[in-house]
Amino acid sequence: MSQSLRELAKRRGLFFISQGSYGGSAGFYTFGPVGNEVKNNIVEEWRDVFVRGLGNMEIDAPTVMKEDVFQASGHVDTFDDMILECPNCGRSHRGDHLVEDETELEEAEGLPTEKIEELVEENDIGCPSCGEALAGVEVSEFNLMFDTDIGPGDSETGYLRPETAQGIFVDFPRLKQYARNQLPFGVAQVGRGYRNEISPRGGLSRVREFTMAELEQFILEGQKPELSEVEDVTLRILSREMQENGETPADMTPVEAVEDGVVESEWIAYFLGRAQTFYERIGIHPGRLRFRQHQADELSHYASDCWDAETDVGSEGRDWLEVTGFAFRGCYDLKKHHEHSESDYTVFREFDEPREVEEISVDPDMSWLGPELGDGAEKAVERLQELAESEPERFEKQSSVEIENGSGTMGIPVDKTGFSRETVEKNGEHVLPQVVEPSFGIGRLVYSVLTHSLDTDEVDGEERTLLRLPSEVAPADVAVLPLMDRDGLTDRAREVASTLRNKGLEVRFDSSGSIGRRYRRMDEIGVPLCVTVDYGTLGEEEETEKNTVTLRDRDTTEQERTDISELADRLA
Ligand code: GLY
Repeated sequence: MSQSLRELAKRRGLFFISQGSYGGSAGFYTFGPVGNEVKNNIVEEWRDVFVRGLGNMEIDAPTVMKEDVFQASGHVDTFDDMILECPNCGRSHRGDHLVEDETELEEAEGLPTEKIEELVEENDIGCPSCGEALAGVEVSEFNLMFDTDIGPGDSETGYLRPETAQGIFVDFPRLKQYARNQLPFGVAQVGRGYRNEISPRGGLSRVREFTMAELEQFILEGQKPELSEVEDVTLRILSREMQENGETPADMTPVEAVEDGVVESEWIAYFLGRAQTFYERIGIHPGRLRFRQHQADELSHYASDCWDAETDVGSEGRDWLEVTGFAFRGCYDLKKHHEHSESDYTVFREFDEPREVEEISVDPDMSWLGPELGDGAEKAVERLQELAESEPERFEKQSSVEIENGSGTMGIPVDKTGFSRETVEKNGEHVLPQVVEPSFGIGRLVYSVLTHSLDTDEVDGEERTLLRLPSEVAPADVAVLPLMDRDGLTDRAREVASTLRNKGLEVRFDSSGSIGRRYRRMDEIGVPLCVTVDYGTLGEEEETEKNTVTLRDRDTTEQERTDISELADRLA
């Protein structure tokens, strides 16, 4: 993070390390009054594009979820980063980051732990905190989820969710009903996610608690998005192949990206296009944005393809910051919850015309199987069904079939299995939908927008700092300022502020200090316009009409005189 943004953030209440009175806690930030306004405005713009703009649903699920959910989703087993603990000072470090910082390698996240150990040794990497040589120190996997107890005593283990997505997937059996089983449909969620990062650093770019805005788009194979809706959008694309060949990003439309085979999924291309428009609306500089495809070894456990939107934030030599992941999750999550829970995560897909379908089933004679297998009978039925589907000829050609029964194999007479194979006419089938997920890190977007908006220029011979925020995300629409805090100017200014608020505008008011300093304060927090109430407004200046104010533009500092009665309309 640049020094100037850090200073501005502190001075003007954009964001700051939380719990500072107690020494702070790494990876936890508070958005102050100004930063919080910007953050909320970015979230509203996101809703405008990805929820209201696409006719999607939005839900609000709990942040604490049962262990079973994360066992099924794969997060308990695989949501890890590589940790390495300094034997001298005891500080923990992320193995892949150490290697990225100390070698030419740009991406070490996908490497195995043994390779990281090798690279630490080969490159003589020392502890960033105390300098101790780290060669020979074991690199191990560290699960990033915060765990907790649900209830007292021998309670159930829960986890703070690492992504909002699971709250959507796990309740898909209900959500599909609310969508009347008609796909494609999308479910969005905006809320907190938690990751117990090994060594948070880089300010807002790596934190332990953060706001995510995620959309889970449920589709059936073959369903396509309306790519023509994003045909005018230009994307800066850096595919896996381009990275391997050392090429720079290329400009192309989502349609071109699909037609040229650069982006495989039309849905991902569609969301890249929608996101580009969103980023420009909130003040991400198009020249400091790119879409980079994940290398195969970077992919999360649930994704078969993923593109990151990355912004150039020029921080600490790691210039490109992931602000959104566009992942093709396929059936991964719904299949896992379908298998691990008692619910049905499939939807019924109608065929265009009825089809003749072969149906293979077993209906075992439980009066025989039960006494033979006791507790194992239920599992045996499942195995029989699997076997009948995969090798039906064994039931037709043999008088008995063999299945695993835990301690070995056992033969079951075919006439006790109730095997049947018949051709039936069907109108459709039950299938698991696929998922395409754009997942936005809101804090990282705030950070990027602030970085790209921060500027300095010279006004009246003095350097000025300003945030050139688009009005959509600025912390207020307008500031109302009395020229001085006396002679009835403040009361009249309060009246003007109140009139504007009643018209639905977000208004800041400040009467303390010189007018020049107040302009600078508003420039520094990015308020696009200032209204000044002066002696002319009160009718005390011959050359100025009563009930007019000056309207000052943040970016140009130009001022013009406007009648109060026209002010609200002009500002709107
Ligand atoms: N849901 C996307 C992520 O966890 O990054």
